[in-house]
Amino acid sequence: MIEWLLPTVPYLKAAHIAALFLWCGGIIALPLMLSQHDPANSRADYGRIRQATHMTYTLAVTPMAVVAVVAGTWLIFLRETYVPWLYAKLFFVALLVGAHAWVGHIVVRVGETKGRYQPPHPYLVVAAALIPMIAILWLVLSKPDLSWIEFPAWLMEPGNRQLPFEIPSR
Ligand code: HEM
Repeated sequence: MIEWLLPTVPYLKAAHIAALFLWCGGIIALPLMLSQHDPANSRADYGRIRQATHMTYTLAVTPMAVVAVVAGTWLIFLRETYVPWLYAKLFFVALLVGAHAWVGHIVVRVGETKGRYQPPHPYLVVAAALIPMIAILWLVLSKPDLSWIEFPAWLMEPGNRQLPFEIPSR
């Protein structure tokens, strides 16, 4: 345990929560912004929506996702949360990252096909992001006791095996 880093926990948690606020808000807002694309739009409108969605995704939502994940990863070690609710939370974080990647894919498709691509219904994409978000918030705020879940023994003890490749020594 890195004792001298413990005073940073409140700041890391604040950074974690502020970043995930923007991350989650962005993943909900982007499908709604993208749904404004309409083949009947003028070139100027198409360009404006394209620029706004591209900038939001690359300059705000993705960097905030990185900040949230990095701060969260530090919190695991500093708060020593090696407990089942955290692993359940990480499962839903993986789903959220999948939703994030899906939104990115839609931003690219819309941008590269000059409006010929019809984005999926925004509520579908919002639901794909909201479901893991709600599950994560429930897990992290109620911290349920999931110790009754039995994990296979091989997952709970060190395998004491060597890596299948040589590690260069200095
Ligand atoms: C890889 C991504 C993530 C990791 C590794 C992570 C890890 C953590 C850890 C270790 C804590 C501290 C828990 C404690 O102090 O007891 C925490 C707090 C928190 N996390 Fe995350 N988290 C991640 C993503 C998220 C996401 C996506 C959300 C919401 C959608 C979220 C919501 C929260 C909230 C609300 C807290 C404060 C809870 C409290 O202090 O009681 N986290 N996170």
